[in-house]
Amino acid sequence: MDAASHPVVDRQVSIDRFRETRQRTTGMFDLLTEEAYYEQPIPLRHPVVFYEGHIPAFSVNTLIKRGLGRDGLDEDLERLFARGIDPEDQVSADGVARGSWPRRETVRQYATDADQAILDALAHAEIERDGHPVLHRGQAVFALIEHEELHQETLAYMWHRLPLSRKRRPADATVLIDGSVPEPRQVEIQAGRATLGAMPGEIPFGWDNEFPRLQVEVPAFAIDAHNVTNQQYLEFIEAGGYTNPTWWSEPDWAWRTGAEVEHPPFWFLGAREWFWRGMFEPIPLPAAWPVYVSHAEASAYTRWKGLRLPTEAEFHRAAFGTPNGGERAYPWGEAPPDATRGNFGFRHWEPVPVGSHPAGVSAWGVHDLMGNGWEWTSTVFEGFPGFRPMAAYPEYSADFFDGQHYVIKGASPVTATGLVRRSLRNWFRPHYPYVYAGFRCVGDTGW
Ligand code: AVJ
Ligand code: FE
Repeated sequence: MDAASHPVVDRQVSIDRFRETRQRTTGMFDLLTEEAYYEQPIPLRHPVVFYEGHIPAFSVNTLIKRGLGRDGLDEDLERLFARGIDPEDQVSADGVARGSWPRRETVRQYATDADQAILDALAHAEIERDGHPVLHRGQAVFALIEHEELHQETLAYMWHRLPLSRKRRPADATVLIDGSVPEPRQVEIQAGRATLGAMPGEIPFGWDNEFPRLQVEVPAFAIDAHNVTNQQYLEFIEAGGYTNPTWWSEPDWAWRTGAEVEHPPFWFLGAREWFWRGMFEPIPLPAAWPVYVSHAEASAYTRWKGLRLPTEAEFHRAAFGTPNGGERAYPWGEAPPDATRGNFGFRHWEPVPVGSHPAGVSAWGVHDLMGNGWEWTSTVFEGFPGFRPMAAYPEYSADFFDGQHYVIKGASPVTATGLVRRSLRNWFRPHYPYVYAGFRCVGDTGW
C-alpha cells in the first residue's frame, strides 16, 4: 500500500489538536495583565505583542500561503509577524528592535480570522498531497501545530522573567517541593549503538533537523542517574565556582564576568537564603529540583567535578539504549507518553523533585530523561549527514548551523506531550540563560 492510500493527517485529530493548542496559548496570554503587552520580558526577544501575532501569522504563511498557494489575510501583518529574532547580544538585539507595534485589538482580530482560515482548511482543503514539497504527509499541518507548541515554551520562559505584578496566578497552579535529594550516583552505560533522528516516513512528522537517521557507535561511559540538583549546584557556588576561572572556558568566563553572572538565572538571594524565582511566587530554593542553568554554567560545574557534559549520542544511549543492544522509542519502552512518565505536558509551571517519575526510568535506571527540564549536551547543533531544509520552513534549522548553538534533549514541564519523541532536537546559545534546561555529568569508564 502506498502513502496516498494511508493519509498521515486525520482531519478531526488535527482539528482537535489545533483547537487545544490555540486554547492553551490563549490561556497563557490571559495570565498576563494588560501592562505587560508591550513589555519585553527578555531583552534579546521581541515584546509580548509579537508572539500573539507571530503564532497565527506563521500558521497562515505556512499552510494557507506556502502550502495551499492561496492569498493570506493581511500581507502587512504577515510580514511584520513572520519571524522572531535570535540575536547574540544587546547591540544586535537593538539593531532589529522595532519602534511601534499594532494595537492589541488589531492583533486579536487577525488571530481570530487566522484561526477560522486554518480550521476551514483543516476541515475542507487538500491538506495532504503526495510529493508536494509542503503538503507531503501533511507536513504543513504538523509544522504549524508544533510551531505553536514550541512557542508555548517560549512564552512560559518569558513569563517567568516578568515581575509577579504582571501576572495572575491560576487557581490550579501547584508547586511540588517535597522530596529528598537522592544520593548522587552514576550508572555505567555499555558501549553500543545510538540511533539519532529518523528515516523519512518512519514517524508521522519531524522537523528537518531530525532527518535522516544517524547511527553512532558510542564507547562506554558513566552518567549521573539524576539531574544535578539545586542542592548539588549550591555546593559549586559555595566552593567559589563563580569566582574561579579554572572551571570556565575562555568565552564562558568572558560572558560570566561581562554579564556579572553570579548564580543560576532562576535563583535570587533573599535576606539570608536562596529563593527560586517561581512563575507566580518566590519559593525557598527547593533542594531536590533540578538546577536550570546556561550551557556555560553547566559546563563549568562538570569541570569542577572532573567530568563533562554528555554528547547528544551519549544522551541517546542513556535514554533509549538497552543492555541487550536494542533501542527503545522512549526511555521507559514503547508505550506513549503520559503523566506517569515524566514532568512534561503543562501539568506544572516549575520542576518537581528529581526521581519523582520512577515509571519513566530508562533501561539503565537513569531518571527523568524526558521531562522536568531539557538537558544540555556538548554537541554543537548541526544537520545530520544528508540534511535537507524543509520546504514548509527552510530557515527553521539551517539558520542556526553556525557553530553558536548547542543541542538540548528531553523535555521540560511546559513541553507539549505531542513534542515528546526520541528524534526531537532543540538548541540554544551557550549563554542564553532563560530556558528550562539542566544537565547531568558524564565520565569515561575503564571498560
Ligand atoms: C527550536 C526552540 C530553538 O524558539 O527559537 C519557533 C523554535 N523556531 N519559531 C526557537 C522556533 C521558530 C526555536 N527553538
Ligand atoms: Fe516562531
